[in-house]
Amino acid sequence: MANIVIVGAQWGDEGKGKIIDLLSDKTDYVVRYQGGNNAGHTVCIGDEKFVLHLIPSGILRRGRKCVIGNGVALDPRALLEEITYLKRHKISVDGRLFISGSCHIIFPYHKIFDTVREGHSQRQRIGTTKRGIGPCYADKVNRCGIRVADLLDAKIFRKKLRSTLREMNSILSEIYHTKPVPFNSLYKEYCGYGRKIRKFVCDSSKVLNDAISNKKAILFEGAQGTLLDIDHGTYPFVTSSNSTAGGACCGTGVGPSRIDKVIGILKAYTTRVGEGPFPTEFPKGRMNTQLRSRGKEFGATTGRPRRVGWFDAIIARHSVVVNGIDEVVVTKLDVLDEEPKIKICTAYRYKGKLIKGFPMNMEIFAKATPVYETHPGWLSNTNKCRKVKDLPLNARRYLKRIEKLIGARIGFVSIGSKRNETIVVK
Ligand code: GDP
Ligand code: IMO
Ligand code: MG
Repeated sequence: MANIVIVGAQWGDEGKGKIIDLLSDKTDYVVRYQGGNNAGHTVCIGDEKFVLHLIPSGILRRGRKCVIGNGVALDPRALLEEITYLKRHKISVDGRLFISGSCHIIFPYHKIFDTVREGHSQRQRIGTTKRGIGPCYADKVNRCGIRVADLLDAKIFRKKLRSTLREMNSILSEIYHTKPVPFNSLYKEYCGYGRKIRKFVCDSSKVLNDAISNKKAILFEGAQGTLLDIDHGTYPFVTSSNSTAGGACCGTGVGPSRIDKVIGILKAYTTRVGEGPFPTEFPKGRMNTQLRSRGKEFGATTGRPRRVGWFDAIIARHSVVVNGIDEVVVTKLDVLDEEPKIKICTAYRYKGKLIKGFPMNMEIFAKATPVYETHPGWLSNTNKCRKVKDLPLNARRYLKRIEKLIGARIGFVSIGSKRNETIVVK
C-alpha cells in the first residue's frame, strides 16, 4: 500500500480513528504527526470500544509499528496512562512504539497556563481541552521548550527546567496570581518519566525514511481537523499545530515527495467542540438534541456535548484544497437516516452579498448566514448496507451532490462505528 495521510476535513471528530484502524490493516507503520492528548480517536472492534489520545490507533492491530513524530506535543504522564490502559486490554507496546526525541514535552505549568488564560477576562476564550497544548507549542516556537531528548540527559534537563520554570513561575504568580510550581518535585517526577520512556525514543525521521526505503507502507494519522489548523482554520478558534496534510511532513521528517495520497475524513453533517464560528450550527432545539443523541456527539476527550449542524460544502471544499485531498471518506451517514429533509450549505450570505469561497476574514465567517439547498431524506436504515447499490437512492444522490460540491471523489462511506459497517466505493 502507498504512504497515505489521513486528515480531518472539518472541526475534528470526523471518525478518523475508525478509518485509520480500517486502513491500518494494509499498512506497516501508523504515525501521529501533530497535536497531543487533546485528540480522542475512537475505534470499535467487535463489542469493544477503545479511545486513544496520544498513541496512534494502529496500535490496536497486531504487528503494526506506531510512531509519535516530532510534531506531537507529548504529555509523558498521559502517555504512560495510555500504555497502562492498553496493557489492561492485553495490548503491548513493547517493540512497537517509537517516540521522536524531538517531541516537545507538556509540563504541569502548560496546563495551568491553558486553564488560567481561558478564564482570564482580557483574553479570548477558545474552549480548549485544557491539556496544555497551546502553551507547549508556544514555548516551542518561542524557543524555550524542553524536548524528549533533553529529558534523557539529567544534567541538561535540570539546567533547562530550572531556567524555564523560573520564568514560567514569575509570569504565573505576577500576572495570573497562581501558586508557583516547585522545582524539586517536578524535576524528580519528570526524570522518572524519562526513565520509563527512554526505551521508546528514536529518530522518527530515520525510522520512517528507512521504512519507506524498505518498501514499507505508512499511514499518517492526523489529529483535530482542517478548520482547527493554526494557519488554515478558523483562527483564533483553532488548535496550535498544523493539522492539515502538510503537517505530516514537518511533524515526522518525511519529505512531501515520499507521500502518495491524502484522504480527507468528512462527517455527513458537521460538528464542532469549543468556541468559535460555525455557520451551519443548528439553533438550540429539536434538531440539535436529536442528531447529537443519534450521533452520540459528546467529546471523546472532555465529554463535552458537541455542537451540531448541517453539512457545509464551503468548509469541505476549502479542506480539499488546502490539504490536496485525493479522496474523501464520508462517515456517520446512518445518523441522518431518520431525517425527512437534509440540508447542505452551498454558499454564505454576508451583508446581502453571496460568498462562495471560504472567507479569509473571520469576522465575515462569524457573521455570515448559510445558503442552503434542501434534499429529501431516505428515511430508512443504512446501517446494514455493504455496497453502494444497497444504499437508498436519496442517500446515493446526497453523496453524489457532496462529491460535486467539494470537488473530490468519495472512496468509502461509513454507516456505523464498527469495522464492517463500511462501504467501499469502486
Ligand atoms: P476522531 O477524533 O475523528 O477519531 O472521531 P471521534 O472518535 O472523536 O468521534 C467519532 C465518533 O463517531 C466515535 O464515537 C465513533 O465510534 C463514531 N463513528 C465513526 N464512524 C461512524 C459511523 O459511520 N456511524 C456512526 N453512527 N458512528 C460512527
Ligand atoms: P480529534 O483528533 C475536536 C478543539 C478544542 C478547542 C480547540 C483548541 O479527536 O478530532 P486545544 O486543547 O487543542 O488547544 O483546543 O480545538 N479540539 C478538538 N475538537 N476534536 C479534537 O481532536 C480536538 N482537539 C482540539 O475543543 O476548540
Ligand atoms: Mg475525536
